Amino acid sequence: MATNTRPLLRFITCGSVDDGKSTLIGRLLHDTGSLTDDQRSAAGAMPDFAALLDGLEDERTQGITIDVAYRQFATPRRRFIVADCPGHEQYTRNMATGASTADLAVVLVDARKGLLPQTLRHTAIVAMFGVRHVVLAVNKMDAVEWSRDVFERIVSDYRNHLKQLDAELAFEAIPLSGLKGDNVVESSSRTAWYPGPTLLRALEDADAASADPGTAFRMPVQWMSRLPDGRGYAGTVVAGTIKAGERIRVEPAGTEAKITHVFGLDREIESAERDDAITLVLDRELDVARGDVLCSADAPAPASDQFSTRVLWMDGEPLLPGRSYAMQLGTRSVRATLTSLKHRLDVESGAHLSATQLRMNEIGTCEWHLDQSVAFEAFADNRELGGFILVDRHSNATAGAGVIDFALRRSGNLHWQSLQVDRAARARIKGHRGRCIWLTGLSGAGKSTIADAVEAQLNLRGVHTYLLDGDNVRHGLNRDLGFTAADRVENIRRVAEVARLMVDAGLVVLVSFISPFRAEREMARELFAPGEFLEVFVDTPLAVAESRDSKGLYAKARAGKLPNFTGIDSPYEAPDRADLMVDTSRQSIAECTRAVLDLID
Ligand code: ADX
Repeated sequence: MATNTRPLLRFITCGSVDDGKSTLIGRLLHDTGSLTDDQRSAAGAMPDFAALLDGLEDERTQGITIDVAYRQFATPRRRFIVADCPGHEQYTRNMATGASTADLAVVLVDARKGLLPQTLRHTAIVAMFGVRHVVLAVNKMDAVEWSRDVFERIVSDYRNHLKQLDAELAFEAIPLSGLKGDNVVESSSRTAWYPGPTLLRALEDADAASADPGTAFRMPVQWMSRLPDGRGYAGTVVAGTIKAGERIRVEPAGTEAKITHVFGLDREIESAERDDAITLVLDRELDVARGDVLCSADAPAPASDQFSTRVLWMDGEPLLPGRSYAMQLGTRSVRATLTSLKHRLDVESGAHLSATQLRMNEIGTCEWHLDQSVAFEAFADNRELGGFILVDRHSNATAGAGVIDFALRRSGNLHWQSLQVDRAARARIKGHRGRCIWLTGLSGAGKSTIADAVEAQLNLRGVHTYLLDGDNVRHGLNRDLGFTAADRVENIRRVAEVARLMVDAGLVVLVSFISPFRAEREMARELFAPGEFLEVFVDTPLAVAESRDSKGLYAKARAGKLPNFTGIDSPYEAPDRADLMVDTSRQSIAECTRAVLDLID
């Protein structure tokens, strides 16, 4: 059989740091004769296994920077691509990357140590990212005298754990020694009590059909081009087949057309299937954007803007309800706001715990609201259309990875009611337009004093105003909120929405909140039309605000009696492009007030 017609199995190896992953992969490559010439020569003329391992370990250490090392090998029956992921706690992002394309996971356990928290965390991650088959490799059996008892105890612990995790995983366990080679490629005489296959045999026999995305055609559009025959839509087929004459439907728009030509990389082709990179030409021009999904017209993908998902969080900054991120789904990027954190998964017990935030390496069930509808598929049905990553909109770092479980239908039943009196009509009778003047800065910086003086001046001029002050709003609407990061995010989300309603009503609204996080001030800005939102940074130094201490709160915070105090043990992120900066330690209140009034004018 020619090499490339042998079926492919993609698998991932995982486990704790010292469980022997590299040794095991080295053993598989070595004993199947799959080493590259480089790897062989690094090991010397007479391939010595230990020297070889050193080489692999080096490559892998470098692999940390390029995320995951993918290695290929083959037997007469099958081709394999193994994702070798570093096992350190901070590299769960690599696990997610490797798992999201794998058919199977080899989970390593050190027979001397049994199941470790990392073993369980990695199992939860591979299950979440669509792996449906786990081979538990109980390694270092030589170090426990090939004890059947030890092996069986670990296997039964693991089986119980899978039950708690509620994951539908096919599972088998193999006692082996990566270092000595027993039960890796050759079956061992030292485990006469074990009737099962070697690791390689288990990999050869494994069913790879778990990732079958179905037969309905799906292609996310990567780019558009002008061709002599019309406009071309290019992308990679992620499910089904397509040929000229068939009808497609563009989702989420819902428009339809007929395919006139299918082009492969360099020529026109008869038909295309999953994984083919193609360009389609249609019988009419449609409004298609990058990220739209071309679907078979008979069985189109659904579209929605609200989803229930599971997320693996990978950023040092926690995931907070109310905060927005860039969600990349296939070839599309949209703004997604976490509307609700349902619960967090305790990876050791499988329990669902209530949570107000997700920290690094935690898995949670999250509901999102997107700023536009997207075509999707549940991850369980299609990994490409149901998997996403979350990007921090400020740093551009990948902050999380997730899977869509289902769309939430509630948005479909809500409609925007159009009314006769609009903001223009309201502005007409007031003689001015609504505005939001957002003052941010430390406690005691002078925000409320300035806002109060500005409002007094505006009032004298007959301007319709309202002042939303943090201390005051926290006595009513936001009285249920404290000063944790999660509560501050929600505090700002609510006051921004209130300010928006008031601006819509035609008021000039002064908002005086510490609003310590950049992300929420950006979120507030995005609620308004350009020019309607003006950010004023009251940039009074901490030392000055603290020396004033009009409410005595800094003294309490310094004495450790008031936790999470901004500037002391809770951060303040200064704006990098405020519309105005004032500093009450160098300017008088009158000067600051005049500067704000000038800005409004
Ligand atoms: S914000 O951070 O969520 O924007 P907000 O402006 O609503 O804060 O409330 C700040 C006011 O709450 C401060 O002016 C202060 O009087 C009071 N306060 C009480 N505890 C804290 C705290 N831990 N950190 C900051 N302000 C606090």
